[in-house]
Amino acid sequence: MLRHLLLQCRSGFESECVSEVADHCGELGIAGFPRFEPGSGFVLFELYGDALTVIQRIPFRSLIFVRQWCACLPPFDNLPTHDRLSVLLEPIKELPQTAELLAEVPDTTEGREVLSFSTKLASAMAQTLRQQGVMLARKAKADWRMHLFSLSGQSVLIGVSPRRNASALAMGIRRLKFPGAAPSRSTLKLEEAWHWFIPQAQWPDRLGGGKTAVDLGAAPGGWTWQLVKQGMFVTSVDNGPMAETLMDTGQVTHEKADAFYFQPIKSVNWMVCDVADKPARVTSRVLDWALNRWCDEMIFNLKLPMKKRYAEVSQNLAWIEQELSSAGIAYQLSARHLYHDREEITCHLDLRQ
Ligand SMILES: C[S@@+](CC[C@H](N)C(=O)[O-])C[C@H]1O[C@@H](n2cnc3c(N)ncnc32)[C@H](O)[C@@H]1O
Repeated sequence: MLRHLLLQCRSGFESECVSEVADHCGELGIAGFPRFEPGSGFVLFELYGDALTVIQRIPFRSLIFVRQWCACLPPFDNLPTHDRLSVLLEPIKELPQTAELLAEVPDTTEGREVLSFSTKLASAMAQTLRQQGVMLARKAKADWRMHLFSLSGQSVLIGVSPRRNASALAMGIRRLKFPGAAPSRSTLKLEEAWHWFIPQAQWPDRLGGGKTAVDLGAAPGGWTWQLVKQGMFVTSVDNGPMAETLMDTGQVTHEKADAFYFQPIKSVNWMVCDVADKPARVTSRVLDWALNRWCDEMIFNLKLPMKKRYAEVSQNLAWIEQELSSAGIAYQLSARHLYHDREEITCHLDLRQ
């Protein structure tokens, strides 16, 4: 039985990962003992129960701070420098069958130094495992994916995640190229949010075709740039200046107003909000927009510079759920600590019904 759960996260968010997974494990009646070093970018959860059950029963998309996860074998800590595979192959045969192997490392400065080692070992491992019939061909269908998470040349973790209940991306990281024409790096947050919250096949329907949007706290315009790129007509609300290039598109109206008081004249398709303020203030604004039906969908950030980040997030999301349920409004609310988010999370509220 596999008893270890490896959780990867942004460095510094290990305790948030622990809190949310511990909450879910509690609901399943499975206790666990987390081990982590602050800033290490990962947590190893030792469970008093079956890690394969836990990783199938907790919906991965309901987790906010966990970027990637796998149920793993006990850590390999003293690998020989020659012929590491001889030590690894037998235990790997205990794992469910896979057709793909992700090479991973902690997302930290030290971790990244081991990436090329991890990639090379993963490639040698996959080749040998396929030769021995332990791993299927790359294009074969398997319900599980294998992970090789390397901490150093001597220390690795090996595990599996369900293909349909984990990130398909190594380390759960969506790497996006910064579009040179965008006015700020923040633009990548909204682009990544779309990748995470909206299935790509639905982008034309939900983002394209001349939709309308309000961007609260828009300056200098990185998020507005993404909305314009999809063909939207945008009202950008901010007292600060918007990039001239955006204003030249003819798709942007700049309202020099306070985002906490601005009201749209007509309902719009999208409201997005990247205002740097207290999470409770942003949540209250999101509720105004939802209860007044001023938009169909929202993407907003909750900034988290405080100590009790998990408690703050849970409180604000619960507040939204409570208010919308009492008002009888159907909704879907999801949240994610995106790769391009720093001390903040990104939320999506879908009110289309
Ligand atoms: C993180 S920046 C937004 C960056 C923007 N999303 C982008 O991609 O370029 C936050 C913005 O919120 C604006 N802001 C803060 N408080 C505001 C308020 N009460 N009303 C309107 N804008 C506000 C600031 O002027 C700042 O431009």
